[in-house]
Amino acid sequence: MRGGTLRPAAPVGLPPGGLTGRSAEAAAIGRLLGGSRLVTVTGLPGVGKTAVSLAAAARAAADFAGGAVLVRLDALRDETLLPHSILAAVGLPDRFTRSPLEVLVDQLRDRHILLIFDNCEHLLGACAAITSALLQPCAKLQVLATSREPLRVPNESVLPVAPLLLPDAIELFSWRASQRGRQITAADHATVAAICVQLDQLPLAIELAAGQLASASVELTSVQTDLDMLRDPGHAVVRHRSLRAAIGWSHELCTPAERLTWARLSVFTGPFLTGDAQNVCTTSQLPDEAVAVALTLLTERSVLLADTQADGRVHYLLPTTLRAYGRRMLRQLAAEAEFADRHQRWYRSRPVAGR
Ligand SMILES: Nc1ncnc2c1ncn2[C@@H]1O[C@H](COP(=O)(O)OP(=O)(O)OP(=O)(O)O)[C@@H](O)[C@H]1O
Ligand SMILES: [Mg+2]
Repeated sequence: MRGGTLRPAAPVGLPPGGLTGRSAEAAAIGRLLGGSRLVTVTGLPGVGKTAVSLAAAARAAADFAGGAVLVRLDALRDETLLPHSILAAVGLPDRFTRSPLEVLVDQLRDRHILLIFDNCEHLLGACAAITSALLQPCAKLQVLATSREPLRVPNESVLPVAPLLLPDAIELFSWRASQRGRQITAADHATVAAICVQLDQLPLAIELAAGQLASASVELTSVQTDLDMLRDPGHAVVRHRSLRAAIGWSHELCTPAERLTWARLSVFTGPFLTGDAQNVCTTSQLPDEAVAVALTLLTERSVLLADTQADGRVHYLLPTTLRAYGRRMLRQLAAEAEFADRHQRWYRSRPVAGR
């Protein structure tokens, strides 16, 4: 290669002790990397996008002569610094007279390398632009991105990661509890299962909940699933200090109409259709069409889960943890009673009982 030496594959950090479950997802990422030059792993806040992607990349790295290089973007706020971050991650000095993008293209042109862009959601446009600008001239380069929202680059393969299966969620909780000297027995499984369901089977939330057991005075039955109690005071285990901060990160990236829709949707406790959402959430400030658009955009941002039925209708679901966040917003808007009442009236007026 010309003009510098690339750092060997950066060691990719996995959760201590490895992953619970996720072998199917890691294998799926590996398969997609076999046929697509850009694979984006999406999913709810704290669902484990980074963890499963790093596990898949660690396995795939051997297939890349230049290995895998991790570019962590969660702390990067200024998109103009993105090329500099990539330069730093691949171990190239940033003191050339040419632009960092030119240097990257020149240095990566002949390299068989996997770049991992981790946490792109706040830099979608910049990540999409640089991915296209690199993939086109660098024929052997591949990109694995993690993002709550797809990059929307042509030929992007998107892999949505779902919450953990319940047995894996219980295993993760039990494992994290045992790291704090607390043994979970078969007799505790129903209690742990209830906690995991309450937390949408999100690994981040489960880790934070199990962390409460570090205090000897906390019994399993008194583990709190309230957003405010799901935090890591020492910031030892996770990137986010709290589940509220992890969800707040998505909230910051939403438009005002999406935030308002999210807040109003928090009165739904189960799946709903577009028409249900419009009947409950529409006001002059937020017309029918704005609600419909917000449903699509909130799904793309991994705030809502969408499930297309055999008849083509889309069932939306606001997961419990994101609903709790929305409910707090609605309370702050002093609109909780109004929309709870509209929700009740809408379902009472319908022939089929709803939620
Ligand atoms: N399958 C798993 N087994 C064990 N720990 C996991 C698993 N998945 C995720 N974790 C842990 O849960 C926490 C959240 O995971 P991760 O950071 O990968 O989520 P994320 O989806 O990337 O979050 P964000 O949306 O904030 O980027 C991390 O501490 C991670 O180590
Ligand atoms: Mg992540």
